[in-house]
Parts: sequence; structure tokens; C-alpha cells
Amino acid sequence: MTTSAPGRPVGGSYDPARTTGGGLTAELDRLEAQAALSFPEELRILRGLGLEGGTVLELGAGPGAVTRRLRAALPAGTALIAADIDGELLAHAAGPGVTLLVADGADLPLPDDSVDFVLLRYVLQHVPDPAAVLAEVRRVLKPGGRVACTEVDSALWGAAEPSYPELAGVHAKMAAAQRADGGDRSIGRRLPRLLRAAGFDDVVLRPFATTNDDHPTDAFAPQLGPQRLEPLVARGVLSLAELALAADRWNRFRSDPDAWVMLLGLTAAATAPAGRGPQETP
Ligand SMILES: C[S@@+](CC[C@H](N)C(=O)[O-])C[C@H]1O[C@@H](n2cnc3c(N)ncnc32)[C@H](O)[C@@H]1O
Repeated sequence: MTTSAPGRPVGGSYDPARTTGGGLTAELDRLEAQAALSFPEELRILRGLGLEGGTVLELGAGPGAVTRRLRAALPAGTALIAADIDGELLAHAAGPGVTLLVADGADLPLPDDSVDFVLLRYVLQHVPDPAAVLAEVRRVLKPGGRVACTEVDSALWGAAEPSYPELAGVHAKMAAAQRADGGDRSIGRRLPRLLRAAGFDDVVLRPFATTNDDHPTDAFAPQLGPQRLEPLVARGVLSLAELALAADRWNRFRSDPDAWVMLLGLTAAATAPAGRGPQETP
């Protein structure tokens, strides 16, 4: 675990003050922009996976870009809990009808069998031990309750035309830096196996795409533009020349009227079984 300010806990490989250039304010904007791009489609998928109400836990809610959207989308009687290990970040998620819970996903202060649906969105890629978090999710879910994990996979990030193979090294260094911090940008492909290994049933994978057919190309800037790489220069992971290369290619891309981009997200979901299996034995 790292700290973004003295004494401030940050989850695994995620440090909100050093995820994008511009610090915490820019990161809040990036998460908001990311939710604006794809959450409508994600919500359609989540509803198909059983998200409907009862008690819903958004684990790793961060500053609440998705919490606010869930609150608006779910029936009024839904008990919506937004949990995060970073209390300072989570405070931004405060709002009517949302219970905030500062907690490590691997040690939740919630009773057994108390939650109907758990969403983890872009959280497990930052967690050094995803299995421990999923075991805890299984404990708090009611039998028949559902978990959905939405993630990236760096090798399946999407597609772009034109594309710039000369940036492959930059992206590989970004993934390696996250791995060095205990995270995994290729976790998307592991999600179904992680869920099965945690004892869940009915594991399914639902990919979703976000393209600049539906959004202006500039709406992708917080995710694909050079600002996202700036902290890696400050850490010595990327050189200034590599940042300049990435900035040049992004500027070429965004000023090309025929440029096309598709970002791919992966949502894996599963059902909590009736018994806890081996974990139940004293
Ligand atoms: C990339 S942010 C995603 C925030 C939010 N889910 C969204 O999609 O906008 C990852 C979040 O996971 C949280 N996190 C990381 N490790 C955690 C853990 N072990 N327990 C709870 N939250 C954790 C971080 O503090 C951060 O808020």
C-alpha cells in the first residue's frame, strides 16, 4: 500500500493523486468522464445480470461517479452502500440515499449473507490479493446474490484506426509499473477463473464496447490522452521523449475526422452458492 499524502491510505496500485497529470482534481474528472462514456451500457448489462434493488454494495466506489448513477437508476427503497479503503476519496461519494463505508474489501464490517448485489468496477486490477476480496464478497452476499466485476485487460483494450504500434512500448511500461505496485492491468481475462476459484456459481463474461460513433473523440482524452501518462514521467517509468511521442500521436488522432476508436470493457458476474463449502467447516 502506498500513500498519496502523509498518512493517507490508498488501495493497492491505485493512488488518486498520481493516476493522471493534474493530480486528484484531474483524477476525479477522469473517473467522471469514464462513467459518462460507458456506464449507460454497463447498467444495461448489470440489469441483465440481476441488479434490481434490495441491498447493493458498490465496493471500491472511489469518489462516487458510479454511485451517483446507481442511486439514480435503482428503486427508491434500495439500500445502496458505497465502500472504499480510501475515506478521503469516498467522502466525495456522499449523497442522499447512500451509506458510506470506509473499509478494505478484504475485511468488510458487514454481516454474513446481508447483500443482494456487489459491484466492483475497476477495483480488482489494483488489489494485490483479488482472491481475498472475492472471498469476503462471497461471505457478505446472500445465497443466490450476485457479484459483478468490471475490468480492463491491457491486451484487449480495444481498437483504433489509425493505430500507432510505436506506442506499444509506452503501454507495456504503464502495465509493468502497475504490476510493480501490486496491480494487474491484464486482470480482465482472469475474472471468470477468479470467481470460480472463490466458489461462485453461474460465472458469465459480458464484454461491452464504447466508441466515438456514440461520443466525441475528445471525450476519450482523459483515458487516452497524454495527461494519463504524465505521472509515469515523474516516476521515471517513461521518458519525456516517450511522453512527447504519445502526445503527438494523440493530437494526430483527435484531429483526424476519420479516426475511430473502440474501448473494450469486461464485466464478469457470478452467483453466491447456498453453502460456504470448505470455508464453513470450523
Ligand atoms: C480506479 S478507482 C475506481 C473507482 C470507481 N469504482 C469507479 O469506477 O469510478 C479504484 C478504487 O478502488 C479502491 N480500492 C482499491 N483497493 C481497495 C480495497 N482493498 N478495498 C476497497 N477499496 C479499494 C480505491 O481506493 C479506488 O477508489
